[in-house]
Amino acid sequence: MGLPQPWLLSLLLVLLPRSWGAETRPPLLYLLTAVSNPSKEVPAFWATGWLGPQQYLSYSSLRPEAEPRGAWMWENQVSWYWEKETVDLKGKEQLFLEALRALENNIKGNFTLQGLLGCELAPDNSSLPTALFALNGETFMEFNTSIHNWTGEWPETEIVSNLWSKLPEVATKESEFLLTSCPERLLGHLERGLQYLEWKEPPSMRLKARPINPGSSILTCAAFSFYPPELKLRFLRNGLAAGSGNSSIGPNGDGSFHAWSSLEVKRGDEYHYQCHVEHEGLLQPLDVDLDSPARSSVPVVGIILGLLVVIVAAAGGVLLWNRMRSGLPAPWLSLSGDDSGDLLPGGNLPPEADPQGANAFPATS
Ligand SMILES: *[C@@H]1O[C@H](CO)[C@@H](O)[C@H](O)[C@H]1NC(C)=O
Ligand SMILES: *[C@@H]1O[C@H](CO)[C@@H](O)[C@H](O)[C@H]1NC(C)=O
Ligand SMILES: *[C@@H]1O[C@H](CO)[C@@H](O)[C@H](O)[C@H]1NC(C)=O
Ligand SMILES: *[C@@H]1O[C@H](CO)[C@@H](O)[C@H](O)[C@H]1NC(C)=O
Ligand SMILES: *[C@@H]1O[C@H](CO)[C@@H](O)[C@H](O)[C@H]1NC(C)=O
Repeated sequence: MGLPQPWLLSLLLVLLPRSWGAETRPPLLYLLTAVSNPSKEVPAFWATGWLGPQQYLSYSSLRPEAEPRGAWMWENQVSWYWEKETVDLKGKEQLFLEALRALENNIKGNFTLQGLLGCELAPDNSSLPTALFALNGETFMEFNTSIHNWTGEWPETEIVSNLWSKLPEVATKESEFLLTSCPERLLGHLERGLQYLEWKEPPSMRLKARPINPGSSILTCAAFSFYPPELKLRFLRNGLAAGSGNSSIGPNGDGSFHAWSSLEVKRGDEYHYQCHVEHEGLLQPLDVDLDSPARSSVPVVGIILGLLVVIVAAAGGVLLWNRMRSGLPAPWLSLSGDDSGDLLPGGNLPPEADPQGANAFPATS
């Protein structure tokens, strides 16, 4: 399987978080994934739904019901809302699995077929649709709402497009979904659940050191349970910028995010370091000392040395991105909105980050 970069890039661009609110309205996006030959306990098809950076829906072939996620569980929705999502996703599941079968019959191999479907709202509340499809991580097809058809240049595009455009009503339904249902749903969520998008929760922080060899240690700065996902982490040595280290971020499954960053330092030098964190939920930036509770510090105004690394959390997109970069196989599977509702709670934290040690870390299981 080739590296899924182009697809991820487009995914990142679309999911790129901002602070969404009344003025800037977030996109509503569904990420659908179907895999041939799923291993045990991996569903053949699953879907997650995103309102901007927040996952609000999950569905999988192992539990074929659309279910709310995060704070959206408390959203006061009309009674049939989730049934309608379920019916739509069951339809998508069938189409995706049929497409996989058609691909397997025509081309030897195992496939991961994905769809990124959804919309943003134009100023007049009409839909600005997104309908991209990827095969093994490469964008290979899109749905064009003006010609009601799936288009793309690949031989594989033709296989799937021919299959789906021959099925009655599928193209019409796709258009209707993108141009009508999607903006209606998005407006509905904004009316009922705007406060969930404007929610702010500061991270609880932890800085730990772990010796790796006689000469050096790894410092890990972990931020637990924060929202929105934009967070800046960097290391200070005696108050001066000391780099940003390797970092990663992921959703907790309850709507909040976790992140960590680690840096290799000289053994014995650990106590000179602090972790500097900036987040909208904090009144001012925090400097966290090694293995001690976070304390406030006066924000350092002045010359900022070194690079300030902004951890851009594109929700699931970043999860995929990181797994891919660290060479883990089948990175898509990490996006499974699984039955327990945990989108890897702490799952991509390094072992030394020890989420249990942070007092505000939520029990998400
Ligand atoms: C597809 O995957 C299965 C299980 O992982 C493997 O046994 C099989 O050889 C693969 N088929 C092809 C054509 O790569
Ligand atoms: C768009 O929808 C919002 C929220 O329902 C509403 O307040 C606004 O008036 C609508 N704008 C237009 C141009 O219809
Ligand atoms: C859809 O197809 C029409 C006609 O071929 C084309 O003009 C238009 O650019 C296409 N739209 C997109 C988004 O590709
Ligand atoms: C849609 O595209 C497929 C494949 O390119 C083609 O076979 C089919 O005729 C098209 N359908 C319509 C309605 O244009
Ligand atoms: C950062 O990542 C690089 C490349 O993956 C790795 O070699 C290095 O050990 C990592 N550093 C830390 C502190 O984890």
